[in-house]
Amino acid sequence: MANKGGVGKSTVSANLAAGLAAEGYRVGVADADIHGPNQSRFFGFVGEQIRLSKQGLPPKAFTHAELKYPVLVGSLAFMMERDDTPIVWRDAYKHDFMHHLIGSFDWGPLDYLVIDMPPGTGNELITLADMLEGHDVAALLATTPQEVALMDSIKAVRFCQERNLPLIGVVENMAGVTCPNCAEQFHLFPRAHLAQALADAGVESVAQIPLSLKLSTASDQGVPAILAEKNSPEALAFAPMVQACIKHTQAVFAEAAAQSLQDLTQAQLPQTEIEQALSQVPAEQQDALRQQLQALLGRSSPPTL
Ligand SMILES: Nc1ncnc2c1ncn2[C@@H]1O[C@H](COP(=O)(O)OP(=O)(O)OP(=O)(O)O)[C@@H](O)[C@H]1O
Ligand SMILES: [Mg+2]
Repeated sequence: MANKGGVGKSTVSANLAAGLAAEGYRVGVADADIHGPNQSRFFGFVGEQIRLSKQGLPPKAFTHAELKYPVLVGSLAFMMERDDTPIVWRDAYKHDFMHHLIGSFDWGPLDYLVIDMPPGTGNELITLADMLEGHDVAALLATTPQEVALMDSIKAVRFCQERNLPLIGVVENMAGVTCPNCAEQFHLFPRAHLAQALADAGVESVAQIPLSLKLSTASDQGVPAILAEKNSPEALAFAPMVQACIKHTQAVFAEAAAQSLQDLTQAQLPQTEIEQALSQVPAEQQDALRQQLQALLGRSSPPTL
């Protein structure tokens, strides 16, 4: 997400999704930008359409030699007759669309659903935050280093804080450029203010992405840069962002698993339930499992059959 338009949210979303998929995860990209759905272009599906099936709306599957599972892309663009049709919807329609985007697309089992947000903290973001409250959800902020973007980014940080939405960090986009003639690196926007503002807000910078022709070309050609040339400086710049997301989800998962075990310990499950569950396991594994369970649940005397 980002409060400002044009800072690279869709580029970051597409590369995050492709980067997670390249790590072997099952990934979907939900394009929540109603007025400017770009993910169809970034994954090479311009002009393609989908039809409602019994399972709901089928996302488009982006395949690539580097990927174990395709990246599934869901977008309003696939339901438009023409690519240049403007969407003129009042808020109630937008609210409904956000629900369909998450609930009516046939995402199947996913490890990650990356949601590409429109700019601002308006209807789409509020609807989404309401809808996903209490679920494993986290935000990644995209910004460019210049003052106007920074001002807006801090508002997005505040939104996350007020909604208790975990913020993984900030992706600094268009942070530096390499001269095509002499290979010297320089910055179009001074970074000092951004670094200070992020530090003041307690937000971590998880990646610095250069302004690069390769990046915009990859987006236009429909293959995210992180896959198009996996050892390029652009792809390597995205890598820490992908790892930050994986680290975040692993920490959340570990915490949830620890909590479940603790709940189980406190639940004092009746022995009959344990035996019932064990009866589903092959006979030769039952004794070992029973002992492990007893140890976990802190019961001293193993039951007899
Ligand atoms: N680091 C970069 N280097 C070169 N081009 C970039 C970079 N980041 C984004 N772009 C290009 O800038 C344009 C805007 O990027 P993008 O669509 O990702 O921004 P956005 O924040 O999603 O915009 P919007 O607010 O309209 O949704 C695109 O053409 C994209 O290819
Ligand atoms: Mg966008």
